[in-house]
Amino acid sequence: MEIHHTVPALRQRLSWATRVVFVPTMGNLHEGHLDLVRLARKHGDCVVVSIFVNPLQFGPNEDYAQYPRTLDADCAKLEGLADVVFAPSVADLYPVEQTMFVEPPPLATELCGEFRPGHFRGVATVVLKLFNVVQPHAAVFGKKDYQQLAVIRALAEQFNLPIEIVAAETSRAPNHLALSSRNGYLSEAERGEAIRLFRNLATIREALQSGSRDYAALEQAARGDLESHGWRVDYLSLRNAATLAPAAPEERNLVVLGAAWLGKTRLIDNLEIALA
Ligand code: PAF
Repeated sequence: MEIHHTVPALRQRLSWATRVVFVPTMGNLHEGHLDLVRLARKHGDCVVVSIFVNPLQFGPNEDYAQYPRTLDADCAKLEGLADVVFAPSVADLYPVEQTMFVEPPPLATELCGEFRPGHFRGVATVVLKLFNVVQPHAAVFGKKDYQQLAVIRALAEQFNLPIEIVAAETSRAPNHLALSSRNGYLSEAERGEAIRLFRNLATIREALQSGSRDYAALEQAARGDLESHGWRVDYLSLRNAATLAPAAPEERNLVVLGAAWLGKTRLIDNLEIALA
């Protein structure tokens, strides 16, 4: 496995690569990331993983400074799974001030976008830059970041990018907690409590599968359960799985998405729900 830090060095290495498949990450890798890389291997010959904590997608009061930077440990985990790691510095990827941005669709101002203004603009901009540098034929994104996946799909479609966007299922701990770098911020006690978000999403799924269609009541009950256990809920919302528009009464393909704070940690999760 080769590690490159600059755009020219990466381009030189990839100039003779065929069927490049790309996994963009912000590092601090866990099994969930490694599952994305394993899936990538099935979609190409040369697996490139980027490790870059993108300042553009963090708000002024968010955890950009604290976000764990663990490059050596990340590279050790990728050994044998990836062919190339691209780990640029901020100056390497943004050598001049970034004054042009990808303006994402209105969807990006809802759900996480409502609580993280500018987040998806930062994500879409860096992903377009990374796509231009790596020029993959396919790229893998996790469904854990469901809204991000929708924004990236729109980016590829609307800018005619010749890149297949591959969606990976969310990797979960044995207790179903979605794997996330931010789980590392949780205290021991919070780790036990963190599963409540998934449980509430699963309760909504069961209720829908049993015939309930009162979306507002289901969302409210889940919110109430979380709040009564000390969580601060950003949103809990049933949406159309393809468009992420608010779920219509007769929707068959839904996704329930949630984002909530447990102490100082913001957790997100979602569950797709296909109704017969
Ligand atoms: O999902 C992430 O880790 C980031 O948002 C991404 C796609 C690597 C862009 O910085």
